Amino acid sequence: MFDTTQKIGILGGGQLGKMLCLAAANWDFKTCVLDASPDFPAGPVAFEFTPGDFKNYDDVLRFGQDKSLITIEIEHVNTDALRELEKWGIAVHPRPDALDTIKDKGLQKQFFSAHQIPSAPYEIFDDEKQLKSAIEAGRWALPLVQKTRTAGYDGRGVAVLRTTADLESKLLQGPCLAEELVPIQTELAVIAARNTLGAVKVFPAVEMDFHPEANLVEWLICPARISPLVAARAEALAEQVIQAFDICGLLAVEMFLTHDGDLLVNEVAPRPHNSGHHTINSAPTSQFEQHLRAICGLPLGETDQTLPAVMLNLLGEPGFKGPVRYSGVEECLALGGVHIHLYGKATTSPFRKMGHVTATATTIEEALKKARIVKDKLKVIA
Ligand SMILES: Nc1ncnc2c1ncn2[C@@H]1O[C@H](COP(=O)(O)OP(=O)(O)OP(=O)(O)O)[C@@H](O)[C@H]1O
Ligand SMILES: [Mg+2]
Repeated sequence: MFDTTQKIGILGGGQLGKMLCLAAANWDFKTCVLDASPDFPAGPVAFEFTPGDFKNYDDVLRFGQDKSLITIEIEHVNTDALRELEKWGIAVHPRPDALDTIKDKGLQKQFFSAHQIPSAPYEIFDDEKQLKSAIEAGRWALPLVQKTRTAGYDGRGVAVLRTTADLESKLLQGPCLAEELVPIQTELAVIAARNTLGAVKVFPAVEMDFHPEANLVEWLICPARISPLVAARAEALAEQVIQAFDICGLLAVEMFLTHDGDLLVNEVAPRPHNSGHHTINSAPTSQFEQHLRAICGLPLGETDQTLPAVMLNLLGEPGFKGPVRYSGVEECLALGGVHIHLYGKATTSPFRKMGHVTATATTIEEALKKARIVKDKLKVIA
């Protein structure tokens, strides 16, 4: 429904919330954000800001009661409160049960198995000791990938265990899963959108290149440098996954293309995603507008790429901590086709996500050339 008076509640006021608010403002939609501090990125651009904890039952219930529609920018929210709000007739997208599945990497993997979604073989363990015993007993061989079930984000809940020494130094504590180490040719992400009427559209597959030290995506290249056939398979897989989850809104599907040409789903995120930021500047519909269209039951927008794009996260420069400053902005803007997005976080620290830049050009090679210059010149310092 296109209703500019309705209040759309967003749980989470980080950069994703901010960009969602900006997209909503284009249609005069009234966004209301719940998060700890109005100083967070979404604070200054939300129509209304409510201080509170999106993990707290009472805070979410109180926040949601006068909204017509609730959505999220982070999956780690209080879903009991969301289920209660649904009972009161408030629309919640994505649906809370799907959030519970996705929040827990163990449940997520079980969901993939139950729905014939290809993903790396795995086993769930109560804690790291149990995993260690399984390795010692020869049931699991090194190397393997250990993931904490709930604590991880930005690669922090992931450990690649290669040697017995790693079992002493790298093992992560608590409930976890072990996954076979996939021989990755390329990491891909496909963002699918499904609206409340059941229509689905997917954005073209993007290629994710990781920063070796920070374990954060460093370059994001769209369209991905893969064959049209692989791209079509990846996009069809993302559609299958969003249908299986039966959610409205966006679902980012992270995948591995293996050396054998197989596609395995790594994990999903039911919200706008880092791998879709380039759509603001290089697609007819941004992922944020698409999310709003989806949850409001509006026709989904066109997703064809308008221009090749390379996106890079602006990370806090190592060695700097404190009130943020940016250097090299003018030089980068002078390149043309360089779109700078700063999240407005007051302080920087090493590798903190402070913004992103999308470089567009008529070819990927040109866009990459600009992105490399930006990476070299544009610095987030204190
Ligand atoms: N089974 C695997 N085999 C090989 N590499 C893996 C495997 N699982 C994860 N990785 C590597 O670790 C990275 C982070 O894993 P994952 O996406 O599960 O963690 P995350 O903390 O949720 O990350 P993010 O928040 O950055 O998406 C992956 O992008 C990939 O590079
Ligand atoms: Mg990931």
